[in-house]
Amino acid sequence: MSARPPSLRLGVLVSGTGSTLQALDGAVREGRLRAEISLVASDRQDCPAVQHARDAGLAVFTFSPKEGPPGSWETALSRRLEEERVDLVVLAGFLRVLHDPFLVRWKGRVINTHPSLLPKHGGPGMYGLRVHQAVLEAREKETGATIHVVTADLDRGPVLAQANLAVRAGETPQELSVRLKPVEHELLLRFLASVVDGHVALPLSDREPDPPSP
Ligand code: GRF
Repeated sequence: MSARPPSLRLGVLVSGTGSTLQALDGAVREGRLRAEISLVASDRQDCPAVQHARDAGLAVFTFSPKEGPPGSWETALSRRLEEERVDLVVLAGFLRVLHDPFLVRWKGRVINTHPSLLPKHGGPGMYGLRVHQAVLEAREKETGATIHVVTADLDRGPVLAQANLAVRAGETPQELSVRLKPVEHELLLRFLASVVDGHVALPLSDREPDPPSP
C-alpha cells in the first residue's frame, strides 16, 4: 500500500531564528505531521530561518518590503503562495504586519503562534524576549503559548489553541523563552494535526464564536 500523500500545504513565514520552522520541518520529515512545507517566505534575505530552509531544500521566497510601492511585497507574496497552492499560512516568528488586501485574500487561512497567553502580553512591539520580560514584570504565575487566527487587529484574532506553563521563581526572560519554545512547538503541531485530521476545517472563522446563550 502506498503512503497517503500530504494533505495540507503550508506556507511558513519567518524573520528570525527559525526554531518553529525546524520543528515543523522535522515533524513533516519524520511523518508525525501529514503536511508539506510548500513555501518558506521571509522579509530577510539571510536570517537563520531562511538558511535552514535552503539547507533543507525547501522552496524559499524572500522579498524586500522597503522596495517598490507600499504593499507590493504582499501582492508578490500572495502570488507565490497561490503558485504553491498553499492551504494555510503559518507565521512562525514573522515580524511584519500583514494588511488588506492580503488578509482578505487569505481570510481564515493565516495563523500565528505567540509566546504568551493572549490576550495578555500581545499587540504592537510585543515579540521575542519583550513578551517574557512583560510576563515576569507582571509577576504572572503562569504563561504559555497561543495559536490564533491572524486578522487586521494585531494579536487579537480568534484563539485556536493555548498551552500553559508555570513561571519559575527568579527565572530570566531568556530562561522562560527556552522553556516555552518546545511547549509552543508542540501546541502548533497538535493544532496542525487537527486540521489534517479534519477536526478543524479551513478556512478558519475570523470571528470569535458567539457566547453560549443563557
Ligand atoms: C516564537 O516564539 C513565536 O511565538 C513568535 O516568534 C518566535 C519565533 O521563534 N511569533 P523562531 O524564529 O521560530 O525560533
